[in-house]
Amino acid sequence: MTALANRLSDLLKELEPQMVAWRRHLHQYPELSFQEEKTPAMIAGLLREWGMDEVRTGVGGRGVVATLRGGAPGPTVAIRADFDALPIQDQKDVPYRSKVPGVMHACGHDAHTAELLGLAAVLARHREEIPGSIRFIFQHAEEELPGGAVAMVEDGAVDGVDAIFGAHLWSMAPVGRVWIGAGPIMANADDFVIEVKGKGGHGAIPQETVDSIVIGAQIVTNLQTIASRNVSPLDSVVVTIGTFHAGDNANVIADSCRMTGTVRTFLPHVRDRAEQRLKEIAEGVAGMLGGSAEVTYLRGYPAVINTEAEAEIAREAAIAACGEAHVERMQPLMGGEDFSYYLEKVPGAFLFVGAGNPEKGAVWPHHHPRFDLDERAMLIAGEVLGRAALSWLSRHRP
Ligand code: NI
Repeated sequence: MTALANRLSDLLKELEPQMVAWRRHLHQYPELSFQEEKTPAMIAGLLREWGMDEVRTGVGGRGVVATLRGGAPGPTVAIRADFDALPIQDQKDVPYRSKVPGVMHACGHDAHTAELLGLAAVLARHREEIPGSIRFIFQHAEEELPGGAVAMVEDGAVDGVDAIFGAHLWSMAPVGRVWIGAGPIMANADDFVIEVKGKGGHGAIPQETVDSIVIGAQIVTNLQTIASRNVSPLDSVVVTIGTFHAGDNANVIADSCRMTGTVRTFLPHVRDRAEQRLKEIAEGVAGMLGGSAEVTYLRGYPAVINTEAEAEIAREAAIAACGEAHVERMQPLMGGEDFSYYLEKVPGAFLFVGAGNPEKGAVWPHHHPRFDLDERAMLIAGEVLGRAALSWLSRHRP
């Protein structure tokens, strides 16, 4: 008999109509981060129906975790999918568009869920052939800080897990291709607020004021030296000011100004250095010019760092599924993902699966009101993740 891994493609293909139906159902009834109710209930119902050994709900809040014990004792590999939606109005003209005003699956987490459900259904039917256990992790609230992963990890989602794999579908890359890399592949994603206080007054009498806009402008300019002067040219850092608000009148000197922004880095010491310099520069510049600045720095998701061995297993799985010509080395992205919290506990790899296709209208970026994806990408992602998990188990057999 052919090894289970090599039959995954056919087994998932048989389930394709069902996977598409799950995805489109979730697409029509999206739920916001930390407010998911029907989605985890549907997932848990199906997992129980398939006879998983343990199905836990409410994990870390709203997550669902199930374990499938295979026919032979062995280690445990986890596979994770997220299931939350975004506060965006769906503007697509398709029969499965969102029925919930202002809420939309605009990042493809509906498809992540459907693909992992499909894989779980297939593996449950062929559990005798699995040399160990598979943990299915369905995670709530990936889109909103502090994210669902950190609480799920605290609540034991990866206790007893030896390795973990996950994937994100990607509409900006063609369906049929996979990107995988070792080491840091997604960034530490931090936000900050800078409140500058000066002293307001008449626009024609500056000598009696402390101009918060002049201070703010100097801060923006000087923050550029974090990347150019404080961090090694070989390391990555982005400091972006996204908003700058001050003043109401052309002839009034504003007494305060408020800026918000984001800092993206890969390495912990670069993250620490950027945070420290951001505070020193804002406070120092404001003080030098007679005002003051208060910095609130909010650490977001840590960097996603794939372990070498697991990234290689995932790469081989992708090659087996798609052919070597369709598997590429991933360049790190400066975006954030809370898959990082699982990787802080266990080795593993996170990969990207192309889901774009102009013929199916899947040409819009993630978080766009017309976002859609080529649903065939679910079969590819399901197969790659399934192959990676099975391959990891058979290589680590006791
Ligand atoms: Ni996403």
